[in-house]
Amino acid sequence: MRGPFQMSDLFRKKPVGYDGADYGLKRVLSAFDLTLLGIGAIIGTGIFVLTGHAAATQSGPAVVLSFIVAGIACAFAALSYSELAASVGGSGSAYGYSYAAFGELIAWIIAWDLILEYGVSVATVANGWSGYFNNALTAIGIGLPEQFTKGPFDGGVVNIPAIIVILILMVLLIIGVKETARINAAAVGIKLLAVAIFVGVAAFNVHPENWSPFLPFGWFSHNGDGQPVGVLAGASLVFFAYVGFDAVSTAVEEAHDPQRDVPIGILSALAFCTIIYIIVSALMTGIVPYGSLNVPSPASEALLQIGHDSAAGLVAAGVIFGLTTVMLVLYYGLTRIITNVSRDGLLPPYFGVVHPRTQTPVRTTVLTGVVMAVMAGLIPLGVLAELVNIGTLAAFVLVCGGVIALRTTHPDLPRPFKTPGGIIMPVLGVLSCGALIAFLPFETHLRFIVWLALGLIIYFLYSIKHSRLAAASA
Ligand code: ALA
Repeated sequence: MRGPFQMSDLFRKKPVGYDGADYGLKRVLSAFDLTLLGIGAIIGTGIFVLTGHAAATQSGPAVVLSFIVAGIACAFAALSYSELAASVGGSGSAYGYSYAAFGELIAWIIAWDLILEYGVSVATVANGWSGYFNNALTAIGIGLPEQFTKGPFDGGVVNIPAIIVILILMVLLIIGVKETARINAAAVGIKLLAVAIFVGVAAFNVHPENWSPFLPFGWFSHNGDGQPVGVLAGASLVFFAYVGFDAVSTAVEEAHDPQRDVPIGILSALAFCTIIYIIVSALMTGIVPYGSLNVPSPASEALLQIGHDSAAGLVAAGVIFGLTTVMLVLYYGLTRIITNVSRDGLLPPYFGVVHPRTQTPVRTTVLTGVVMAVMAGLIPLGVLAELVNIGTLAAFVLVCGGVIALRTTHPDLPRPFKTPGGIIMPVLGVLSCGALIAFLPFETHLRFIVWLALGLIIYFLYSIKHSRLAAASA
């Protein structure tokens, strides 16, 4: 038996450079698959929905600057992710890296943040998906009655499409990861086609006067309700559009050659999406006045406003596929993180079991799927969605901090990929992601603190006694 809890327990670390035992997940993903996985997770609600809201209420046409600012912060974090993925490897994701760099407690906090990021994102996006899907059903005359497309807090009974889409994705993820990657690749293709249609039509309908005034809300101030506005507050909001590039790092154990492929996957997906976001947000605010974009489907609404009805329909259809891939990849990431956390004993072993036939974590997939389906079906998730950003940004700060820590404590660790410029990039990552956290509304900070407190309670009631490192030091 172990003695009483000691402060040093909080800093128990897994050895750096561990190669990750073979737990039975299949190594089936190439760098290209990983890039598509990243694009699958990244382009979604952020660009198709939040751009309009951010332009209308926070940034004006300068929403394009908000995307650039958020993209730069993500680039610093992505470089740090890449370095850690290549050098620390093992159980993948920010959780695995921070375990090596900081020890068990911080790793658990990151995992808890990532569970928030991925789990709530999937449920939130499922709600948005349901709206688009029901619009499509209505367009062909078979729309569902309102009580079955909204939860009880929104005046309905249950959001059935949101539940069904999560359950379908659950089955897909159980069947197998290569199959999931294939379907993802096809859906990413359709999503990119929708982006191409939008760009192709919008590029010829820009009215430069819509870009003026360019900075109606300035860089940073507060509106009449005391809420932060301006380019920087907009950046904290549209940051959601980049959430998901880190999901590539959760696939370390299923990549052919993770040290090479994961950095390529993360950096190419992020670079590609940043360019798309700059183009799409500039065009969206160029074709219609920014004030008219605060609607649930601004990309297709803007096309409707300029009289391109069929292009608007095609873009809306592409968005349905786009949101599906976001949910699929984030759901995938969620199950892999929980599997890893459970193997380390921080959550019960029940969650770490991989099914011998499908080689996928069936139990975790079913359990998280059911929880997210219930959330998506019943709870209005608008407010919780803000939590996704703060949880993700906090994880990014810790990942960048992890690079700085490992460079200091393990200078000789082999680093097949190294962020250029010593620790400058990770330091800038800590500062820029920290600043984006600061620009979020105060209530979001409070809710995040409650989430963290819950995580700490679980850690001290369960994880600290059952972790593998606790067993090793017993
Ligand atoms: N980045 C993802 C989206 O925008 C979460 O939907």
